[in-house]
Amino acid sequence: MDVDTAKLSVQDHQIDLPITVGTENEVGMDIRKLRGTTGAITMDPGFANTGSCESTITYIDGEKGVLRYRGYTIEDLAEHSSFLDVSYLLIHGELPTRPMLDDFHEEIAHHSLLHEDMKKFFEGYPASAPPMSVLSTIVSSLSAYYPSGNSEEEVNLNIVRLIAKLNTIAAFSYKKSIGQPYIYPRNELGYASDFLHMMFAVPSEEYELDPLIVRTLDMLLILHADHEQNCSTSTVRMVGSSGADLFSSISAGISALSGPLHGGANTAVIAMLEMIGQDGGNFQKYVDKAKDKSDPFRLMGFGHRVYKNFDPRARVIKRIADEVLGKLGIDDPLLDLAKQLERIALEDEYFASRGLYPNVDFYSGILYRAMGIPTNMFTVMFALGRLPGWIAQWMELKKDPATRIYRPRQIYMGHNQRDYVQIGSRQHLHQ
Ligand code: ACO
Repeated sequence: MDVDTAKLSVQDHQIDLPITVGTENEVGMDIRKLRGTTGAITMDPGFANTGSCESTITYIDGEKGVLRYRGYTIEDLAEHSSFLDVSYLLIHGELPTRPMLDDFHEEIAHHSLLHEDMKKFFEGYPASAPPMSVLSTIVSSLSAYYPSGNSEEEVNLNIVRLIAKLNTIAAFSYKKSIGQPYIYPRNELGYASDFLHMMFAVPSEEYELDPLIVRTLDMLLILHADHEQNCSTSTVRMVGSSGADLFSSISAGISALSGPLHGGANTAVIAMLEMIGQDGGNFQKYVDKAKDKSDPFRLMGFGHRVYKNFDPRARVIKRIADEVLGKLGIDDPLLDLAKQLERIALEDEYFASRGLYPNVDFYSGILYRAMGIPTNMFTVMFALGRLPGWIAQWMELKKDPATRIYRPRQIYMGHNQRDYVQIGSRQHLHQ
């Protein structure tokens, strides 16, 4: 196929649109000159057909169920790498050597303490505060402590600070919610181990880490580490495009992730499974509700904007869930419920014809439960995992000479110009 240019006619105007072909042969029409030449814009609510950037970080083939970070398959990374290894890969572009990884870990470990004054922020929240709100506001306030920094050195230092401190902030937000004393980070522990220690240790006794749980958490973080231009990542890029600093951009990404159609789905899945269980396990009823267009109910953890075959992360998580729950001797009725619901939905023509399969959130909550992580922390776990991806994408945006402030257009459908109505004569406007 000759794909040098695409030809478009809009009313009386003709335009040749240059074609960009990616390294995996994805094709994009470059419409940068469209409005200037034809006066028209494109309409794409939800941006399902719109590329916002060229990127070298993550590749997804949603039809084939492929996910790769910097060319490495998610399956290989989940099996062989650690989360910090993958974080380094995403942020710096290549897998680190052993000494490089050790240095990276040491740097992060040495920045994991929070400024003592920041503890007062946690104290100001009610115990019922959703940990995602606490996470996003405290990340945003990091810019009050650590100046945004323009040099590469300062930006790199802020990146290390953020990776280090997000672990601590996440664990502190949990300790606050249950009224236990904060447990400070320990430099000799790995990233996942340190998080579990800060979450579950108490000053009054020794806390023993279970290597199986540590490894499972590490894998879950890897599986969430990046996912190209999804809602929260595009938010990070959008905020970053205005020149806002790293902490403000990531804080906005955390807020975007909290929604139930995005990262918040992992919490919603558990609520849905519990509801189905309490309702006597009537799966068909809920599958029918999800298919009914007059009913707002959707199968949470099902469907994806990009994956129309299966989500490779869900496949890995389902396998690990079986293995880990078996090894830990946990019999979680929600795992059986999830499997049965998945089977019934996948046999249904409605889901098959729309390419709706379990996504990453469908089984992840069951694993978090097995580790003792409470439901209101699930989306925080997602944010911890996604952080290196957000950072890598933010850096790519900053370095890309093609970057302009994100500023979509619209087609205006409102009133044409009309005469101003004085306040005493407005009654008729509301009849
Ligand atoms: N249950 C029932 N029907 C669904 C579901 C679902 N979970 N998801 C999509 N559909 C249907 C839609 O009603 C629509 O049907 P139609 O063509 O007859 O109108 C069709 O499938 C396409 O769905 P859209 O909503 O147009 O797809 P979109 O790409 O905009 O949305 C999304 C993707 C938000 C993930 C959607 O599938 C959804 O709401 N899923 C449930 C929430 C969820 O699990 N979110 C986590 C996603 S993964 C992540 O962010 C980490």
